[in-house]
Amino acid sequence: MCGIVGYVGHRDCSDVLVKALTGLEYRGYDSAGIAVFENQKISVAKSKGKLKDLVDKMKVEGRPKGFAGIGHTRWATHGEPSDINSHPHSGAKVTLVHNGIIENYKELKEFLQKQGRVFLSDTDTEVAAQLLDYYYSHIKEPVKAIIETTQELKGSYALGIVFEDFPNRVFAVRRESPLIVGVGKSENFIASDVPAIIEYTKDYYLLEQDEIAILDENGVRVFDNHYQPVVKELKTADWDVDAVGKCGYPHYMIKEINEQPTAIKNTVTPRVKDGMPCLDECNINPEVLRKIKNIYIVACGSAMHSGMVGKYVIEEIARTAVTVDIASEFRYRNPIIGKGDLIIIVSQSGETADSLAAMRLAKEKGAKTLAIVNAMGSTIAREADMLIYTHAGPEISVASTKAYMVQLSVMYLFAFELAFAKGQIDEEKYKYYTAKLLETPEMVEKVIAQTTEISQKISMKLLTADSLLYIGRGLDYALSMEGSLKLKEISYIHSESYAAGELKHGTISLITKDMPVIAVATQSALYEKTVSNIKEVKARGAKVIMICQDGNDVPKDIADYVLKIPTFEEILLPMLVCVPLQLIAYYTSVQKGNDVDQPRNLAKSVTVE
Ligand code: F6R
Repeated sequence: MCGIVGYVGHRDCSDVLVKALTGLEYRGYDSAGIAVFENQKISVAKSKGKLKDLVDKMKVEGRPKGFAGIGHTRWATHGEPSDINSHPHSGAKVTLVHNGIIENYKELKEFLQKQGRVFLSDTDTEVAAQLLDYYYSHIKEPVKAIIETTQELKGSYALGIVFEDFPNRVFAVRRESPLIVGVGKSENFIASDVPAIIEYTKDYYLLEQDEIAILDENGVRVFDNHYQPVVKELKTADWDVDAVGKCGYPHYMIKEINEQPTAIKNTVTPRVKDGMPCLDECNINPEVLRKIKNIYIVACGSAMHSGMVGKYVIEEIARTAVTVDIASEFRYRNPIIGKGDLIIIVSQSGETADSLAAMRLAKEKGAKTLAIVNAMGSTIAREADMLIYTHAGPEISVASTKAYMVQLSVMYLFAFELAFAKGQIDEEKYKYYTAKLLETPEMVEKVIAQTTEISQKISMKLLTADSLLYIGRGLDYALSMEGSLKLKEISYIHSESYAAGELKHGTISLITKDMPVIAVATQSALYEKTVSNIKEVKARGAKVIMICQDGNDVPKDIADYVLKIPTFEEILLPMLVCVPLQLIAYYTSVQKGNDVDQPRNLAKSVTVE
């Protein structure tokens, strides 16, 4: 989604803005632009394409030179990616960048056109710029004009604004879309997220709903929407530049796959006391857990897939019913939930629009909400009744790997604690499961080492496929969903995950000679059943890649490739098996020459519906 930055200080502003925008590239974008105060005037440079295209264009056409300005990477929503639709957008005296969607832009545009205003682009953002300019032309005071404007705007927005009459000052305001204000020494910043500013400062303020910030090189002032000053708490990012760099890896995705053991350790270890999970700091304790009637896990994409594994685990060991729901469906289908129900919202970014809306709906209906979130201080984290942070560190690659992995680890912590609280497992079993979970970082490390080469080989065999299937039963099926998503989002090869036992009710007709089928068969109780399903696809010509445990006796001639993972506690195997699934997707994308970290059409933080 769009990324916003702003800078006021002593450095070359164009340079800082481009670098800061580089830190937001992970969000996904299709055009970029900056506006800088140059000799008291606002000078704009913008271009369709990547930041490199903007930089190349500025080499030819000249680069705005100055010490204050705003910048933007755009992920098109209203109007195609083009130079004209790129941000910043301007009125006579106002120039701004925007992340979010102005829902009532049509009515506002009509109103402004009646006032004689002319629009150059198809964007909703230009409407916000012109509306602010309209109010400013009457009120002549920037903050009051911002307040007046935001009262008219419906939808979501984070705005970075410069007024030509106030050189070397940057203004910002937000509703629903995130925005931080970075605080440096004689320099200050705005940004959609911390990676944009981490090279310059670790200190920042989180801007709350409707707050307005004014930055100059000497400091930051924040006001509420009644123009009253607000005292903000300064936060400090607990990671450094290395966390957002590639550190010698060719792509963020492979770096993040390799960071998984550490991410699990950071997430699980602090939550274990006396050999048992302890989620007290998250307001979760046995008393709270015993009161839960129904559990819903609501999320999008990979985060939702972690919930699928969570469902199997919670139902198996805590004997509590779990419904997994896609947030964009849940929020519009008037779900039957209420007091006594627990809604678990899972989100890496903590800003996903549908997940946030689902959580707010659940609260309205009287259910308790528990957020499992990676991004500190994000909106979902702040609004949930209970919160478990995952500690994956910043995830830059659009395709989620380490964030999914730690979401799984939290599903286990939660399931174990719930099972014990409900008397479904005794203390011995409780401690045993917890000890096994603590072993997973080491096991994941081992699996990365053991499966990299074979995953690479397997990926070579997928390059020419038009389509493939992932099949499995039980936990293997839940995990296959993530394997399939990973492959399609970065390799652009169509794939589906299917419950192996359901194939012959229709989908098996898709199998043709040499169609790859990735069959996950790690659960002993279902092994023979899955093997039968594998035989069925093999008999119809499929090229089978089978993933199973080291000790499994694989019948001759049922698989073209067998990828074995170490034998381990079976309920925890998804945390190991997801590694080769990630690696297969990664190497397929690399070998196809795709943009691994920023796959086409995708954005990392989906802050619009
Ligand atoms: C896929 C992926 C997405 C996200 C989804 C939810 O690799 O990353 O499917 O899982 O967009 O995002 P968050 O977790 O930020 O709510």
